[in-house]
Amino acid sequence: MPERAALITGASGGIGLAIAAVLAEEGYGLTLSARRPEKLDSAVAHLRDAGHEVETVAANVADEEELKSVFTAHEARFGRLDVLVNNAGVGIGAAAAEIETRFLDMQLAVNLRSVILGTREGLPLLRKAGAEHRKALIVNTASIAGKTGQPWLSIYGATKAAVLNYSVATEREVGGEGIACTALAPAFVDTDMTDFVKESVPAEAMIRPSDIGEAVRMLLKVSPNCHIPEIVFTRPGEAVDAP
Ligand SMILES: NC(=O)c1ccc[n+]([C@@H]2O[C@H](COP(=O)([O-])OP(=O)(O)OC[C@H]3O[C@@H](n4cnc5c(N)ncnc54)[C@H](OP(=O)(O)O)[C@@H]3O)[C@@H](O)[C@H]2O)c1
Repeated sequence: MPERAALITGASGGIGLAIAAVLAEEGYGLTLSARRPEKLDSAVAHLRDAGHEVETVAANVADEEELKSVFTAHEARFGRLDVLVNNAGVGIGAAAAEIETRFLDMQLAVNLRSVILGTREGLPLLRKAGAEHRKALIVNTASIAGKTGQPWLSIYGATKAAVLNYSVATEREVGGEGIACTALAPAFVDTDMTDFVKESVPAEAMIRPSDIGEAVRMLLKVSPNCHIPEIVFTRPGEAVDAP
């Protein structure tokens, strides 16, 4: 049984899978979740082949019971939670006058509500880990889109701004219990999510998913006396409030 364990949502590709690879290298047992079980299992095959302990749970984080089932499965397998990565997210662009309610609700549920519910579900075990070694960690994947208003991505940006604010509140609530909370705020990362923009911003010019993974590795390495509430990732020369 691994000495430490982590749970990551949205882990079947992109940023979540890159963070999973780093946590596996650092010796964590992993529970990885996403909606599509086949994609999830094939995405994590290389981790299992390398001998890492990986539990997979297919779940839609917009559904409270499904989200809870990820935490139940994780506890049954590992019995502890040292790192929680609330990473699942979706972005659906629309002009303000043409927003469809179902896409508004979806983005609120996946990008914001699941972060709040996931944190609630994770806290009992995270508190035990924090009391044990003062290096428990919550990572919330926000976005640089949360740093300023984003035309045609107004809902996405608003959910991510809320995640940034919620992460600070979480850090201030539980930081004294040995649990750090860090929000990640990347600009364009080369994942499936950014396929829509790759004609104007080539994939080769984007941040690598592994860059985000390495930032999480740094969060694991800093001393318990150092909490890092937010990490902003920009492309070279880009302003933090760039679209
Ligand atoms: N790529 C960027 O440029 C960028 C920049 C800033 C922030 N982010 C944020 O980074 C996070 C990861 O994005 P990514 O770029 O890695 O995207 P991605 O490659 O599209 O991966 C998204 C992951 O989330 C899962 N997912 C989507 N909806 C879900 C739901 N309702 N319930 C459970 N899992 C769900 C997907 O699997 P299934 O589809 O099978 O569920 C997949 O594993 C998101 O929060 C995103 O907003 C991305």
